[in-house]
This record gives sequence, structure tokens and C-alpha cells, in this order.
Amino acid sequence: MFSSLRQSTDIIENIRKNSFEPAHADYYKGKPGRPLNLILKARHDFLSVWRKADYADRVNVTKIFGRQIVVVNSPDAIRYVVAKRHENFERKTPQMRRALEFLLGDGLFISDGETWKQRRPLVNDIVHKNRLPTFGKIMEKTASELVERWSAMPDGAPVNALFEMAGLTAEIIARSVFGNDLGEEAANAVTEGFESYQSLIDSINIGYFLGFDEGLPVLRTPKLRRSVSRIHQIIDKVVEDHLAGHGDDNSMVELLVRRQKRNPELKLDVVALRNEAATIFMAGHETTAATLTWAWYLLSRAHWVEKSLHEEIARVCGNRVPALDDIPQLEWCRAIIEETLRLYPPVPILARQAKEADRIGDIDIKPASLVLIVPWTLHRTEAFFKDANLFKPERFLNGQKPIPYSYIPFASGPRVCPGLQFGLNEAILCLAILAQRFKVRVAENAKVEPQCRLTLRPRGGLPVTLHRREGI
Ligand code: HEM
Repeated sequence: MFSSLRQSTDIIENIRKNSFEPAHADYYKGKPGRPLNLILKARHDFLSVWRKADYADRVNVTKIFGRQIVVVNSPDAIRYVVAKRHENFERKTPQMRRALEFLLGDGLFISDGETWKQRRPLVNDIVHKNRLPTFGKIMEKTASELVERWSAMPDGAPVNALFEMAGLTAEIIARSVFGNDLGEEAANAVTEGFESYQSLIDSINIGYFLGFDEGLPVLRTPKLRRSVSRIHQIIDKVVEDHLAGHGDDNSMVELLVRRQKRNPELKLDVVALRNEAATIFMAGHETTAATLTWAWYLLSRAHWVEKSLHEEIARVCGNRVPALDDIPQLEWCRAIIEETLRLYPPVPILARQAKEADRIGDIDIKPASLVLIVPWTLHRTEAFFKDANLFKPERFLNGQKPIPYSYIPFASGPRVCPGLQFGLNEAILCLAILAQRFKVRVAENAKVEPQCRLTLRPRGGLPVTLHRREGI
């Protein structure tokens, strides 16, 4: 019925000598005042609804079917929303809560108020950077296993980089969250369950725009129920084993269980423990997988950057496998990951629902308004990043830092990603370990199109070929 309104996305990609403008949607040029058109376009692709004027230092307000929508693309105003008035803007949108509540219950990612306040320090503790040496070993081991698997394939073997990276980061987070006791079959079942869940939920809750402040519940189809029950059963079994004293000592679940035993007033029952474990599992693997996938795409097209990366890995690590302790010396690796997170922030939209009336800049905010901070537009705003659409990792070298609150791939303020250090170090380390042995190539004529679902990924994944590095 709506096929005439469905619009495809025009993608821009330019490669010249030593300059690369990686794939991004063209500016939206639709006629103003057609909300249904815009919603349908956003459903297909949330990144293609932004006009040229949205990539500017400003706060903009609009209305869709009477719902006030405020887009905050200015560092000072972002600081106001995420830090100063965090309590008024901490609430996730009905779209996000409805989409994830079946799977994550009251897990941290979608909770607010007292539940969030009580649980956040727990999650902070268990993914804290002090625990990085333990997790670093898991990262090194898992990435080295992937090198082995790739080495067993013929040179030039075709794979889908997104699936390869999702497998890698899911394995790392599964070993970190659940310990070694999940087992390959159950780990695969959980990963597939999450994958299928994502593809089954919609990216827009139409009910919210039609006036329901809490949105409309997501239809729980038999397929969706099956995905969720498979994930829940497996995680519950792990949690119950830990509660009975049979869990892996170093895992995140074990830390949660011990915390509960020490502080029974936290009332973390099996379901609450499952919700937090599932949240960390979900939040902790999709994002890093997307980052690594985009990094391969960027390196595959910008050989001059890849060359600097290879030289650095050889200089710092010689022929041994890169390790967590090398990271401070791996400056190009870090800059490449930081630039990848700028161009392709895995969470490209931070959406909040205002609790009470407020004022952002000179705009009056109504209760239950939709407040959007869009790292996708923010990170591509010329006022904050020169040559904003070009891939230039150099901008992060030699201690250079973006303007505060203009670069927020991990969000900011009290709700900043608790896995920031975990995710950043994981991405840098996995890139170094894999790039030491392999070049990853995207076909010259491949059409790469960014797609925003829960995370920002290439539509259909990223078909690539794997090439052993000569002399290594
Ligand atoms: C490159 C990797 C990652 C990126 C870019 C990233 C980004 C983000 C962002 C932007 C948010 C805030 C979302 C919002 O407020 O709407 C977030 C929240 C969260 N992330 Fe990450 N993340 C990454 C890796 C991780 C890892 C490895 C873990 C766990 C080990 C993790 C756990 C979480 C959790 C639990 C939350 C919810 C926090 C809360 O609401 O208080 N993330 N992440």
C-alpha cells in the first residue's frame, strides 16, 4: 500500500588519491510537511532523513503528528541534556523500551529511575577497567583462534566480515560474561537468538507518534517468542549454576551473583541477574562487531592508512601476537578505531523521552517530547570536524582531541557506556591481531550502504575476501 512512498537511499562514496569519502546517505531532499513519508523513510533507514541543515551546530524543533521532536546537535546543549539535566532526560524512548523489554526485562540499557540507580554501579564494577587484564587475555585468545581459522582457509577466501566480527565479539563477551562454561552450541544459540530478535523487531513504534506516550507493545509473534525463550533458557541455566556455586570464578555473572550474596537487599533474583547478563551480552558485542566491520571497509579503500597501520604493528610487536600491554604504543590502531567510531558510530541515535517540561537553549520542551542526539550528524558537522565526511584517522593522532561533547560514540554523562574501556581496547586489540596477519578486501564495485537498526551496520553485511600478508 505504501510502496509508492518507499524511497531508496542515494549513497555517496568517493575515492581519490590519498583521500577517501566513505559511504554515507545523501542529504534528505523530500518536501517538508509530509510526516508519513518521513516516518516510512526513517523505517527503511534512519540515516537518510537528515537535511543539509541538520549537519550544523544547532538545536532544532519539529512536530510529527503533534509529537514534539527536538534534535540536539550542539555540544553545549548536549552537555545540558546528558549531564546537567540527566535526570529529566535519562528515560529511553517508548520505541527503545518496547523493542527490548521482552528480551531484556528491566535490564540496565532500558531501565531508569530507582532500578537504574541501583543497578548501574553494579554493572560499572563488573566491566570496570581494572578488570581489563583478565578480559584482555580472553580477547587475545579469541582473536588468535580466529587468525587460526582464517589461516586454514585458501588465500582470497570470501567471507562476510560482519558475521565474522559478530562471531568474534560474541565469543569474547560470552566468555567474559558467562565464563568458559557456556559451551559452543549454547553460545551459538544465544548469538543466533539475538540476531533473529533484532531482525524481528521494528525500528519505529508508530503508536508513540499517534499519541501514546508509552508507545504500543511489540507484537509477540511465535517466532519472536521462540527466539526469546531460547536465550532466556540458556542464560537462566548459567545463572542457576552460578547461584549453586558451580560457575566460572572470573566471569561477570559470578561477580553479579557474589554481589547479590553480599548484599541481599539488592534483590537480584534469577530474572534480574538474567536481565543484566543479557543486557551486557547484547550491548557488548554488536557494537564492537560493527566498529571492526566498518574499520575493515575503511582500510580496504584507504591503502595509505593501512600501510601506516601495518608499519606500526611491525614496529611495536615484531612478529609476536599483539597484546593488551601494547595498546598504548599502537597509536594508529587507536586513531583508526576512533575515526571509525566518528564516521560510523555503532549507536548513531541517542533517543530520550523528556520526563518534565524543560528548556534546551531557547526551545521550550513539553513533557514526553522526543529528544534526539544524533552522533551520526554531530560527528559529521563541519564546525566540529574539518572535512567531516573524509576518513582521516590523523585527526586523532598526537593527543589531538575533539571539542568536548562533539564526539560521543559511547554517549556521555551518567549514562555513558560502562563498557567504554572494554569495547575500545577490544576493538584496537582485535584489529591489531587480525591486521598483523591478514588484509581484508571489499570488492571495488561493492555497494556499501550504512543501515541503522539497533546498531549501525552495512546493509546485508560486508562481503570481503581474506588475504594473507606476505612475509608474515
Ligand atoms: C565499540 C563498542 C561500544 C560502543 C560504541 C558502545 C556505545 C554505547 C552507547 C552509545 C551507549 C548509550 C546508549 C544510550 O544511552 O542510548 C551504551 C550503553 C551501554 N553499553 Fe556500550 N558500547 C560499546 C561496547 C560495550 C561493551 C563492550 C559493553 C559491556 C561489556 C557495553 C555495555 C553497555 C551497557 C550495559 C549500556 C547501558 C548503560 C546504561 O544505560 O546505563 N557496551 N553503549
